[in-house]
Amino acid sequence: MITTDSLTKRYGPSTVVDEVTLELARPGVTALIGPNGAGKSTLLSLVGRLADADGGAALVDGMDVATTRSRDLAKRMAILRQEHHLEARLSVRDLVGFGRFPHSRGRPGPEDEAVVADVLTRLSLDDLADRYLDELSGGQRQRAFIAMALAQDTEYLLLDEPLNNLDLAHAVAIMRLLRTAADELGKRVVVVLHDINFASRWSDEIVALADGRVVAQGPPAEVIRPEVLEDLYGVPVSVHEVDGHRVAVYYG
Ligand SMILES: Nc1ncnc2c1ncn2[C@@H]1O[C@H](COP(=O)(O)OP(=O)(O)OP(=O)(O)O)[C@@H](O)[C@H]1O
Ligand SMILES: [Mg+2]
Repeated sequence: MITTDSLTKRYGPSTVVDEVTLELARPGVTALIGPNGAGKSTLLSLVGRLADADGGAALVDGMDVATTRSRDLAKRMAILRQEHHLEARLSVRDLVGFGRFPHSRGRPGPEDEAVVADVLTRLSLDDLADRYLDELSGGQRQRAFIAMALAQDTEYLLLDEPLNNLDLAHAVAIMRLLRTAADELGKRVVVVLHDINFASRWSDEIVALADGRVVAQGPPAEVIRPEVLEDLYGVPVSVHEVDGHRVAVYYG
């Protein structure tokens, strides 16, 4: 279980994550939505200990992330960042292999290689496995980074805008994969999405953030409503039902 208790982060005078208290208990997919600058990435970074909190706490299985050894955390939780900066010239296979590091400690065995091979196939990266990252398209590179996070094979998976740069088919494939990971492997997935219709279609729960605070939380039927979304984004939105899912339409 991931919980946050009055989790707070400040940069200078601004509080960008403001006493956020959340409980992500059962396996499932939680989508984090909200406008640019709402604090989604910062919240994920605090839970994944890529940044230190100024107040409150984030707990993973009851362990305070601020005081848990990185190695122990990395076996339970993988985090895909919104931006990827890599200086080294790496192949896709090498990058995905990095995901095994918490398990292999730099000495990958047959099991690690099997996991990497499996993830490459599941993300349709077999043909690109030996290409360097700087020889890929933006969407192909994004899939390679998602593959690295999946190869870490953790119970908790935090993904910051994994659908960036992906075409419709690959975006659906990734969401289907995350859904299967939650339903069949019992994973706990937290995913930042800007496409609210993907959030509506694929998540069990949506958490909407604005100005560092949780402003709405619940199953898609409770959050994908015109009044909630208009408040959140400040644009007119209409909501329709398609195949049992709520679809938001926004023309601006
Ligand atoms: N290192 C930093 N120093 C100062 N301010 C920061 C820093 N990192 C983030 N912020 C500010 O914190 C706020 C929240 O940023 P964050 O990246 O969490 O937003 P976000 O919801 O992920 O937005 P986006 O949808 O654009 O990715 C923003 O106002 C941002 O300018
Ligand atoms: Mg962000």
